Amino acid sequence: MPTAPPPDQPTASKPVGIVGLGYVGLPLALAFARAGRGVIGFDIDPAKPEAIRAGRSYIDSIPTADVAAARASGRLDATTDFSRVAETGAVIICVPTPLDAHLEPDLSYVRNTLDSVCPHLAPGHVVSLESTTYPGTTEEEVVPRVRARGLEPGRTVFVVYSPEREDPGNATFTTARIPKVVGGLTAACLEAGMRLYDAAFETVVPVSSCKVAELTKLLENIYRAVNIGLVNEMKVVATAMGIDIWEVIRAAATKPFGFTPFYPGPGLGGHCIPIDPFYLTWKAREVGIATRFIELAGQVNRSMPEYVVNRTMLALNERGKPVKGSRILLVGLAYKPNVDDKRESPTFELMDRFADLGADVAYHDPHIPAIGPTREHARWEGLTSVPWTRAEVAGRDAVVIATNHRVLDVAALAEWADLVIDTRDAMRGITGRATVVKA
Ligand SMILES: NC(=O)c1ccc[n+]([C@@H]2O[C@H](COP(=O)([O-])OP(=O)(O)OC[C@H]3O[C@@H](n4cnc5c(N)ncnc54)[C@H](O)[C@@H]3O)[C@@H](O)[C@H]2O)c1
Repeated sequence: MPTAPPPDQPTASKPVGIVGLGYVGLPLALAFARAGRGVIGFDIDPAKPEAIRAGRSYIDSIPTADVAAARASGRLDATTDFSRVAETGAVIICVPTPLDAHLEPDLSYVRNTLDSVCPHLAPGHVVSLESTTYPGTTEEEVVPRVRARGLEPGRTVFVVYSPEREDPGNATFTTARIPKVVGGLTAACLEAGMRLYDAAFETVVPVSSCKVAELTKLLENIYRAVNIGLVNEMKVVATAMGIDIWEVIRAAATKPFGFTPFYPGPGLGGHCIPIDPFYLTWKAREVGIATRFIELAGQVNRSMPEYVVNRTMLALNERGKPVKGSRILLVGLAYKPNVDDKRESPTFELMDRFADLGADVAYHDPHIPAIGPTREHARWEGLTSVPWTRAEVAGRDAVVIATNHRVLDVAALAEWADLVIDTRDAMRGITGRATVVKA
């Protein structure tokens, strides 16, 4: 059995390989390059390495200048050729972990990645999984594949799990500033993982195992999903009582301890919060436990688009209009403000529901000029964002604010529109001729 060099030598002088150059992998690659480490990015989508090699960003919240600077430093390269894993000293895996059609974990991306990476691993490599997943994945998926290559975790290679905590578009907490939780398969693995991340992160938080690190990430996301579910339910109750939930939350948030504000919306979106909790639900069945909070929050959150559609229907009804034939404009296609990420966006569901009821549906999003390929919303592919002008808005029967991007002058809607359905309290304090209905 070949013995590994000490975890920091000589692999620390080799580039870090980052597999999956999406919303997580690209900023991570830039963080390592900025910290002085060489980086080789890997992706099966050739467009991404091509863009990186051209010094161009393909993610809205990452400036092209940052990619260009990393390229100019000579520390960032990218490729589709996985044999170049052999040049690296560490491999960090940031590929998607979605749910399948039955709401069960789909680890195929992680498995495919491991199948591409493992043949090129050598003694001394650190292998870190960052994709969000259920406790046990690193042990069950990474370890056997590494062993099949004749390498022994903790002795010849170092296996860690370090959950991704990226918040795209967050200018305060950029990648390197977000504390990095790391769990290792063995003490030597943890040590190697900490050395790896120490190079690029201000704070590294060691935990005692990969499973602890895996569940830490799920706890963070479940905490958000459950609290958003709670506040969405509170919104429905408050609205039925004629109380403005937004005012209630603002008041409650003045409490200096024991209360963290969460905000209601048209439903959950993004790659994480609607999906990750169900990774735990699935795994918990193995130990005979039902994750009731997760299921309940999921139920409430999934009912929000229908709630918004019902509120819109009632408001149109007041005006003597059926949804069928109404011209409805959705504002904001991204699932959260100030980013171009439309994955799992509830706006799609609103568009689907309005269209199924016979409405004429359009959208405006300054960050998403056109709807490209999507996994589940093929009917909208090719649709383009309508211009943000009085002429476009004035002819609509209802304008539904689904996401309030900072760059959008929603105040203009007060004069341009007749009826605004506001799911984000974006029209607070703005008055004009439009009727504003919170939903
Ligand atoms: N986006 C976020 O804000 C965020 C935050 C925290 C955690 N995460 C987690 O991080 C992981 C990655 O998410 P993301 O948002 O970066 O996804 P993404 O879809 O933006 O990027 C994933 C990339 O992986 C590539 N890929 C897929 N299969 C591959 C393979 N076999 N080999 C190489 N590359 C492959 C894709 O082409 C894509 O470029 C997920 O597990 C997600 O839950 C994401």
